[in-house]
Formats: sequence, C-alpha cells, structure tokens
Amino acid sequence: MSTDEFPTDRPAVVTCGLPYANGDLHIGHLRGYIGADAFNRALRTLGQRSAYVSGSDMHGTPVAVNAEEQGVDPEDFALDWHEQYEETFPQFNVEFDNYGHTHDETNTELTQEIVRTLDEEGYIYEKAIQVAYDPDADQYLPDRYVEGTCPYCGAKARGDECDEGCQRHLEPGEVEDPKSAITGNPAEYRERTHKFFRVSEFADYLTDFLDDLEGTSNARNQPRQWIEDGLQDWCITRDMDWGIDYPADGDDGADDLVLYVWVDAPIEYIASTKQYGERVGEDEYDWERVWKDDGEIVHVIGRDIIQHHTIFWPAMLEGAGYNAPRGIAATGFITIGGKGLSTSRNRAIWAREYLDEGFHPDLLRYYLTTTGGLQQDVDFTWDAFREKVNGELVGTIGNFWYRSLLFAYRNYEGTPDADVSEEVRERIEGAIGEVRESVNDYSLRGVGQAATALAQFGNEYIQRNEPWKLTDDDPDRAEQVIRDCVQIAKAVGVLLEPIAPDKAQRLWEQVGEDGAVADAHLEDALEAPPRNFDEPDELFAKIEDDRVAELEEKLDARIEEAAAAEDEGEETESDDTPADESEAMTDTEDLEPLLEDRISFEDFQNLDIRVGRIESAEGIEGADDLARLEVDIGFETRQVVAGIKQLHDLDELSGEKCVLLANMEPAELFGVESNGMILAAGDEADLLTTHGDAAIGEKVR
Ligand code: 2FM
Ligand code: ZN
Repeated sequence: MSTDEFPTDRPAVVTCGLPYANGDLHIGHLRGYIGADAFNRALRTLGQRSAYVSGSDMHGTPVAVNAEEQGVDPEDFALDWHEQYEETFPQFNVEFDNYGHTHDETNTELTQEIVRTLDEEGYIYEKAIQVAYDPDADQYLPDRYVEGTCPYCGAKARGDECDEGCQRHLEPGEVEDPKSAITGNPAEYRERTHKFFRVSEFADYLTDFLDDLEGTSNARNQPRQWIEDGLQDWCITRDMDWGIDYPADGDDGADDLVLYVWVDAPIEYIASTKQYGERVGEDEYDWERVWKDDGEIVHVIGRDIIQHHTIFWPAMLEGAGYNAPRGIAATGFITIGGKGLSTSRNRAIWAREYLDEGFHPDLLRYYLTTTGGLQQDVDFTWDAFREKVNGELVGTIGNFWYRSLLFAYRNYEGTPDADVSEEVRERIEGAIGEVRESVNDYSLRGVGQAATALAQFGNEYIQRNEPWKLTDDDPDRAEQVIRDCVQIAKAVGVLLEPIAPDKAQRLWEQVGEDGAVADAHLEDALEAPPRNFDEPDELFAKIEDDRVAELEEKLDARIEEAAAAEDEGEETESDDTPADESEAMTDTEDLEPLLEDRISFEDFQNLDIRVGRIESAEGIEGADDLARLEVDIGFETRQVVAGIKQLHDLDELSGEKCVLLANMEPAELFGVESNGMILAAGDEADLLTTHGDAAIGEKVR
C-alpha cells in the first residue's frame, strides 16, 4: 500500500461489495456499484492504471435460505441471479473489467489455497463450540437460520450479524434467545468442532493498518473501537452443504464443513482481478503485482460491512502474504422519503423499475454520487430527484452546454479560431485541480461538484459577456467568448465522465471529438476541440411536476399494498424470514438511521441551546409551512421561522416553553429573518420543552 497521491505508477484495483445473488437489485445496491464505478473512472481520468472488478456472492445463508424457500437448488438459484446482475450493471453504465462469481473455479481454488496457507502459517485452529440446532427441522442453524437478540446492543439480530443495531458481526452461539428461522422454535445447542482464524493475533497489525488507511473516516473509527474492546478469533466454517468446502486433509474431521461465506466472498476481489489480468495479459495489467506486491487496492463498501473489510479481511490478507488495501470507502445507507429502505415493504426504488420508467441511468448516477458525502445517508424522493435533475443537470450543465454549442454552431459552424483566454484556462485548471483533490479525498461529490461549478461558471461567463450583442459590433471579442465557452463545455464533459459517462460521451461527440471520452485524461479538458461540429442536441430534459406526483403515488400505493399483504398475514419476503442484507438496520423501523460519526464534547458545547418561551406565533403569508415566532430567551426576544404552520395550532402556542438553538446562523425565509431554531422531533414537529422549572434563558447541556 502506498501513500503517494493518485495517480501513482502502480496498478490499482477498485472493487465494490459483492451482491448476494438472491434477489432484485435496488437503489441501495446501486449506490455502491455506481460509486465504485465512478471512483474507478475518476482514477483513470487522473491517468491512474486501474481495473474495476467484482462478482456475485453465491454462497452462505443469504442465498441458501432464499433458494430453499423457492424449492430450488442454491447453485441454479444463484446463477440465475448472477446472470441477471450481469445484464443490469451495464444498463447503469457500471462497467466492470471483470465480473465473476464466488462459486467459479478461480475463486474456489484461490480460497482453498489461501485457507491452506493460513493453516500452514499456524493461524487456524480447531475448537468445540455450541452450535444452534433445530430438532424439528433436524438441521444445524448457521447464520440466517437463527434469530435472537444481539448480546452487545440488545437489538433483534440474526445469527451472524446485528444488522438492525450495532452492526457487529456475531459469532456462532453469541446471539441470545436463539430461535430457528425455519420453524420459529427455540434453538437447541449442540457441540460441534469448528475451525477458527486467529484474528486476535493481528490486533497490533490492524491498528497500524488503520492508521495508514485512506477512505472514509467511519472505516477507521469503528474498527479502532472494536480493537480496543478486544478482538475475538473468528469461526470460519459452517455446518452447511452450500459453500466452498473447507480444504480438509481427510483426517481432521472437517470434511463435512464449508467455509463461512465471508471467507470466500472477499477473496473474489482477488479472483476477479486475476481473471481480468489473465485475460488481458500481464503487460497490460499485472494482477499479482496488485495483490501480492505494491498495487493500490480500494474497496467501496456499505457501512454495514466495515468489520469484515477492516478486521477479518486485512488480517486474512496479511496472514496469507497478500497486499493490504490502501483505501476503504464505506457509504451510508439510502432512505426513501426519510424512511429506511425496505424490500419487504416494497419501500425501494428497484433498478428495473427506474429504467422502465424511462429515466436515463446517468441521472441516477448523478443523484446518488452528488447528494451528500459518501458516508452520509442519502434520502431519495422522486421530488428531490426532480429538483436535482432540473436544477443542476438541466438548469446548469445542460443549459450551458446547449446554449454555448448552439451559438458556436450557428455562428462559426463549430469552434471559433481563437486561443482560449487566460481567465478561462485558469478556471479550467482550477476545476481539474478540484477533481484531483476530490479523488484523493475519496469524494465523489467533489468530483461532480467540480464539473457542475465549472458549468455554472460557464453560464455566468456567457451571461456576463453577452456574445449575442458582440457578433456585429465586436466580432473578434464574440469569437473569443464563444471559443472560451466551447472549451468550458468540453472540459465539463471530461470532468463529468466518471459521474455521467453516457452524457459525457454524447457531449464529447457534439464538440466533434472522436473516440471515447472515457479514455480522456483531465488535461484533455484543456485541449482544443476540432474546428467543426454539427448542430448540438439538448442532453437533458426537465422532469415535470405531474410526472413526480404520478411516481410518488405509485410508490405509496405499492408500500400500502405490501403493508396490507403483511397485515393479512400473506407471506412476504421478510419479517418472518431473514431479510435482505441491503435493507440493513431499517427493515422494522421507520426511524432515520443513527449517524455514524460521533462529535466531541467540545462540539456539543458549541451548540448554544436555551430554554425559551413562545410569545407569539403566526403564519407567514405565501409560505405553506412556515410560521414566524417571537421567542423570549431571557436575554432578549428572538424572531424565529419554523416549519410548523400546518402542524400546530399557532394560537395555542403563546406562553409555551420551548427549546431553541440560539447560535444557529441567521437565515432569511420568505423575507423573514430567522434568528435561531426551535427544536422539534419527528414528522409532526413535536416541540421539545423542559419538564421541571428551568428558567427562561437557561442553557441546555
Ligand atoms: O453484504 C453483502 O451483501 C455481501 N454479499 C458483501 C460481500 S463483499 C465482499 F467481501 F466480498
Ligand atoms: Zn448489536
């Protein structure tokens, strides 16, 4: 692993978490695959040699349970989904250099070889443990076959993961009050001998590894805490038929065990890279250099699988003599209208549905990569999607592209003969620098913002210079302005390619360029486009309000339908069966997920929260939701704007105690200055208050 800035002269690999081959893809999955694809493309625009690989996760109980429910063989079941994923990804412009699967020969052999090495190095041992067993079903209950309570946080948990609570991996036997997910009966415990990997021996190594690790801060902070709490060794075998056989030597009693899915899944990152390297040849891409020597390894994952990637995986790599990841970027979750995505409740935007509604994939790519930072949760509503598309893609980028290229085409049949002005050259160089910095900060939002801000500059530039007024009076100046605009348009295309590759390609062609914009480097943004180009088309279309209303109605209707089916006790995908991994934490709760990042006590002290008394409240004219409040906070009376017009009887509020964030920066809403923020909980804006005799103006601490 190196710490030199990207681009380096070492080959890189970018991976995304392997999707379990067990169900339809939705927007929650797409965030990771699109994010990693965009990151890989962005690396390439910097000139970094890089490959993007992944594969389907075929094993484990997530697949076995679903296959069993449908009465089909897990291999056929998983292969079927694998093939569907292979078709879906390109439809979102997610282009893998290799997309394999964990059940293929490369991964099976590599997994067994790595496990053998770990064994030879003394990192594997046997231990008799108590394993959950369902006597009625007459089978052991690994992982998702057993449900109970998390011993760490008390949340409802599945056998191997606390996905609705603290996100920890749980070892066999750890879940409390275990019940069989097959029959609902309390599970019995039986003694079995299993294989363990000595993760605890890697505590010091992992501490150093985390100190150097790049990516998002959540991928470093959480594991540091786990290491401090003490690492446990990791049970790496399961009593199941479906999986990769433990490479037993015949006399150690492990012949009937398969490897835990989390052993062979990440090894697919290597296997898939190997398949790519072998296909293109070592001169083109040296997969062994990446994984065994000094390549740059970057994993993009969901934040629910941080422990697997920052503890188990680097320990396995180190133990087996492989290279460590350089960066791990762990994304937040997707919520739908502020509520947790839930496949069982049909509160999801499905990949297929999105495409069937006729939306271009690049719109969703842009939305998912530029709404919030990588580790933040991203909320999706059709309305927010419309707003982003209409505002940034249509209003800023599309508008600039079209108006400048059309003007250039009509007046000069392409790029006017002039040199780019110093001002514009410097502005483009600045944008290139922002992209470079954003990639090194693992900020896709930064990459997208650099492109959008450049287009915004272009709009201001054309507006400020008004070339349409200059063509007659000052033709040289008009040529100069349009020459600049064409260059800005081309540069926006180059910069936007990682985020919106298809739209960027169309722009590339519209400025008369040949070949693929995906092969361009950032510096090409400064190269003059060909002299002539054809009449441009508009690249983005506005999404109308009534379309959004229709889509939101459809979504609400199917959520209601799923709820009704659940009430009637019809069998749905979850609640009584293990839920899909990707709806982690949110399947049973309508609450916003907890924020991952902690703030310091000092940060908290910087919030000046005071007890107040509402003196008056009235609606603000013209604003549907806003009210103007006068709030006494002891030292003074503050005017505050709050979104409570529809949620409270304003006449009843005078005299009520409330809690106010007093050092919120002032804002103006509907022409009314707001000087603080009233604190309230939930969608109904339940106003916070105190329940003793705290005086008005008292600080809340
Ligand atoms: O959580 C999941 O959906 C797993 N299938 C991810 C595996 S990622 C990796 F390690 F391979
Ligand atoms: Zn927990």
